Amino acid sequence: MTKRILVYRPLNEDQLARLERDFRVDYLPKIDSAEDPAFLDALVNAHGLVGASLPITPALLDRAPNLEAIASISVGYDNYPVDELTRRGILLCNTPDVLTETTADTGFLLIMCAARRAIELAGMVQRGEWHESIGKEWFGTDVHGKTLGMVGFGRIGAAIARRGALGFGMRVLYSNASPKPELEAELGAQHRELDALLAEADIVCVTVPLNADTHHLIGAREFALMKPSAIFVNVARGKVVDEAALIEALRAGTPHAAGLDVFEREPLPETSPLRHMPNVVALPHIGSATHETRTAMADRAVANILAALNGEQPPSPVNEVGPTHS
Ligand code: DGY
Repeated sequence: MTKRILVYRPLNEDQLARLERDFRVDYLPKIDSAEDPAFLDALVNAHGLVGASLPITPALLDRAPNLEAIASISVGYDNYPVDELTRRGILLCNTPDVLTETTADTGFLLIMCAARRAIELAGMVQRGEWHESIGKEWFGTDVHGKTLGMVGFGRIGAAIARRGALGFGMRVLYSNASPKPELEAELGAQHRELDALLAEADIVCVTVPLNADTHHLIGAREFALMKPSAIFVNVARGKVVDEAALIEALRAGTPHAAGLDVFEREPLPETSPLRHMPNVVALPHIGSATHETRTAMADRAVANILAALNGEQPPSPVNEVGPTHS
């Protein structure tokens, strides 16, 4: 029997052809709800899933009796119940490495835009309101030479810190579950406990993965520890931050500004004050969203699912399970 792969995010022709060589593909590239009847129908027969973003719940897995492997087109895997997948013998794979530099670019983009008020000022030009040299009420704040506090110092955190230390002469502090002596040597980075980092950094940048330990890691108490001049950036996951507390803190003036690529609810609801706050740069979760990187991520996902369903070692497994059923 030919195994079936349900693909619920766009792939290019070449990627689809690679899957179709050995497998039957149900291609539903525009599914945005796990309740979609077409998705649920295809799920029943799927041996493999290739997609991203949809919350994959145990109840959904109950509807996928043949499922052997999932290849997520993302590095983050907080939307999958990893322990439950392992218990059921379902392999989960992700796409690390290929998106590190692009996501770090996004992190630095947010740092620069928030510090230099680039979006506000570009809006002024676009609206035809640039009539004279701007006054100091529009000045931004320097990034070079400042102290960058990285909350999380994995691959993406390190790549942002590298930009800061080597490109902008920044002093780098980090808080992380494990010490990173190699990055301390490379970048002169110094470890701090989270509270000390928040108090000392000019720019606080969050890159930790979302899990039970990091849910609302940054809330009212943590914002109160920051400098009033601090710039807060989140390129990790929205739920790492208590968003209501962030809104209150920004209104109260500490931190001074924020650059956000991720939110507790995405897309950001119409009612969110973050959409209209002048000291907030909000992007629609574009961390890895370039042509080159999204292609590389989908390539990795295809390689992962092909290996997993062929009983080979995939390039980027998240969990460890026994041999897949054949
Ligand atoms: C990732 O790969 O985890 C990005 O945040 C896209 O979801």
